[in-house]
Amino acid sequence: MDIQNIFVLTGAGISAESGLGTFRDRGGVWSRFDPMKLATPEAFAADPVVVHDFYNMRRRDAMKAEPNPAHAALARLEAELTARGGRLFLCTQNVDDLHERAGSREVVHIHGELLKARCTACGAVQAWREDLSVETPCPSCGTRGSMRPDVVWFGEMPKHLDAIEDALLKSDLFVAIGTSGAVYPAAGYAAQAREFAIPTLALNLEAADNAGMFAKTRLGPASETVPAFLADILAGGDGA
Ligand code: APR
Repeated sequence: MDIQNIFVLTGAGISAESGLGTFRDRGGVWSRFDPMKLATPEAFAADPVVVHDFYNMRRRDAMKAEPNPAHAALARLEAELTARGGRLFLCTQNVDDLHERAGSREVVHIHGELLKARCTACGAVQAWREDLSVETPCPSCGTRGSMRPDVVWFGEMPKHLDAIEDALLKSDLFVAIGTSGAVYPAAGYAAQAREFAIPTLALNLEAADNAGMFAKTRLGPASETVPAFLADILAGGDGA
């Protein structure tokens, strides 16, 4: 099977073995915190201090975490496909930078990035590795108290949708890794791939909510299933 262009969608499960919590597993982030009080624009307007504290904690955790073999395998896959004149389109729902730190060069963050901050006054976005607070001045316009994490909250528009749709149509294989398939539009990409007769593969610890959308599924920890996927692709297989 000649696979040139692969579309990979990752979720919190790929960072689980790096020590970053998933959202909907047993004991997940949303079983301990209420997303409606922490991950919506309304929550931020109502209580910015609580929201800043939550994201400051997650930013510190993300900076302490290290990429795992699954992130490394995807960075290697990008290099191998590019060397053959193909492409790995890596769309992540994660807001950490573990893909980048593993060596992936092209990473599209559909839900934004925790290690970036955006000014709600002037719109400027900057790399950000410190805590944010209601006192933080915007480095671009100087406004105080207008800085927020550059992540996509519930009810907000995901990022890079046109580029994602365009890449999906051009892919020879769609692979979802470590995602429950609970949040749209990302959860609908497998069904869209099938409509375009693009083979679909899920690599997950357990069956995802949208498991029925995938032609093939390999269950197991990403640190094992993703390197095995890479090896099969490099050996000329279909990755499953
Ligand atoms: N290896 C592979 N998969 C794993 C592992 C692992 N080690 N550990 C957990 N998983 C799987 C779980 O089985 C689950 O299906 O990863 C998935 C994690 O699902 P969620 O916690 O729902 O995370 P995700 O799908 O990324 O959530 C999507 O929801 O809250 C929003 O913006 C947030 O981007 C997030 C979005």
